[in-house]
Amino acid sequence: MASTFTDLPLHYPSLNEFVSVFRYHILSAIAGFIVINHFISKSRYRSAHNPKGLPLPPGPPGLPLIGNVHQLFGKSIVPLLEQWSKEYGPIIHIRLFGLPVLILSSSPVAKELLETRHQKYSGRPNFLLASEAMQDKMMMPFIHANERFKRVRKLVVTEMRPAAVTEYFHPVQKVEIHRLVNSVINDPKEWKSYIARAIASIIMTTVYDRPIKSGTEAEQVVKNVVRLNEQLVEAIEAGKNTVDFLPWLRWVPFAPYKAYSKAYLNLAESTYKQLMDDAKANLEAGKPARSIAARLLQRPEEQEADYREQYWGLGSFYLAGSDTQSVSSQILFMALATHPHVLKKCQAEVDSVVGPDRLPTYDDEADLPYIKATVRELFRWRPVGPTAIPHASTESDEYMGYYIPKGAMIIPNITSIHMDAKVFDDPETFDPQRYVDNPSLPGHVFGFGRRVCPGQRVAEETIFLELATVAWGLNVQKQKDSDGKDIEIDTDRGRAFAPGGVMKPYPFPVSITARSAERAKLLAATVEDEGL
Ligand code: HEM
Repeated sequence: MASTFTDLPLHYPSLNEFVSVFRYHILSAIAGFIVINHFISKSRYRSAHNPKGLPLPPGPPGLPLIGNVHQLFGKSIVPLLEQWSKEYGPIIHIRLFGLPVLILSSSPVAKELLETRHQKYSGRPNFLLASEAMQDKMMMPFIHANERFKRVRKLVVTEMRPAAVTEYFHPVQKVEIHRLVNSVINDPKEWKSYIARAIASIIMTTVYDRPIKSGTEAEQVVKNVVRLNEQLVEAIEAGKNTVDFLPWLRWVPFAPYKAYSKAYLNLAESTYKQLMDDAKANLEAGKPARSIAARLLQRPEEQEADYREQYWGLGSFYLAGSDTQSVSSQILFMALATHPHVLKKCQAEVDSVVGPDRLPTYDDEADLPYIKATVRELFRWRPVGPTAIPHASTESDEYMGYYIPKGAMIIPNITSIHMDAKVFDDPETFDPQRYVDNPSLPGHVFGFGRRVCPGQRVAEETIFLELATVAWGLNVQKQKDSDGKDIEIDTDRGRAFAPGGVMKPYPFPVSITARSAERAKLLAATVEDEGL
């Protein structure tokens, strides 16, 4: 996968390459051990605590041994889960090899299990590849509900509490969004690269005081962070992480995933540590503490997490916050180009509150309810993480007359939850007005309960200021063909987005221009003043 904004000299074997080289080893390993895995999981399942003999929730029939694996891998998961939820209801059971998996497809069901009963549902599945092998169980989104999780979660939540977001993130978000919109005016074809750079820079500046100035100037350590993120996303894409469902592979010497994971882990460990060590060295040299890393190091007495947990904890900011925000921004441009009346309403609102002579700021937020509602509707309409991050049950349970085994993977089917006609009128329509009229309508793109995204406020604030500034300064429209007709943009959830854990739109044509020469000039002057 090519990086969007930095040159990446490191060559890292992708899992794909790896898999193709070791295809025969993998196939024979799978064939040899699948039977063992089946019997291990069966016996575990039979001895599970189900005294009433309750049935498992309904679901599509699977095959012996592999369960429903063949129906999932290599497919676009969003339409499949939507189809299953229509056929089997709000709680579905499938099996991936020996692993029981529950799919939750309604807001009340997901809230009951993942929020009200959070004590039983705040674990994470055993991500053997992404968590254990590649990240030594240190990376927060994948850590089980254990003591380390509590220490790291406390650290991360503290650094993203509302006051900290206002103080640390807002000034950086403001400058980066101005640069983003200004760059897009000057070079509209590269709009996606500018988004990726701005989002990455917001995180790297706030967390480590390492702004990303331009692609070629990026420091090696920053390139490594980008690279680590790309490799991880690739490794956890559906179909490449088979080892997660064949846990016995860990005892197989030279199992194909091991060398790859080791190289990844070495780079991750040294990169996250170096970023923290540098912050420490800067503090000791008397430089001002401008980053979250430096401020954290200034308060050692408050930290329950040890040094290693601290640097991995801060590493999770980029990993969890870069693609999610960057892709949400791409979907924003898609939504605006395909819903011109929404952009017009956002423009009218920002014009009436801000006017042409200054740029919108966070102080305007309370006066821009339609723009805020548009951000919420964006996250509802095309949720960037259509299956969030799966939870795991840490105890067996009973719900709606069904048995829920301990250790089950729990997948929130966010798309179906957001398209539930019982909750949202005309759910297929992109209509921000619904959140203006009824602010208590739900939205679950940031997950649930004890594992809810700690970066929610950061992300909402990024997209809010981005939309307000885009509405203030830009026209975003469909491109025209040579006959002057609109080139249509496909927004279909199945067709228009690449399969995977992040709902990334395939490239689409869009026309981006400044609303007026005066506004473009004011923006350019502001960027010049703000420097970097
Ligand atoms: C549009 C942007 C974002 C979306 C849609 C998003 C979504 C999510 C979701 C669905 C989860 C899992 C929740 C669950 O398990 O129930 C999560 C976890 C997490 N997110 Fe975000 N996120 C976004 C941005 C961010 C940002 C900007 C940061 C940090 C700067 C961040 C940091 C994290 C971390 C550290 C976790 C792990 C929490 C845990 O495992 O307990 N996220 N996010």
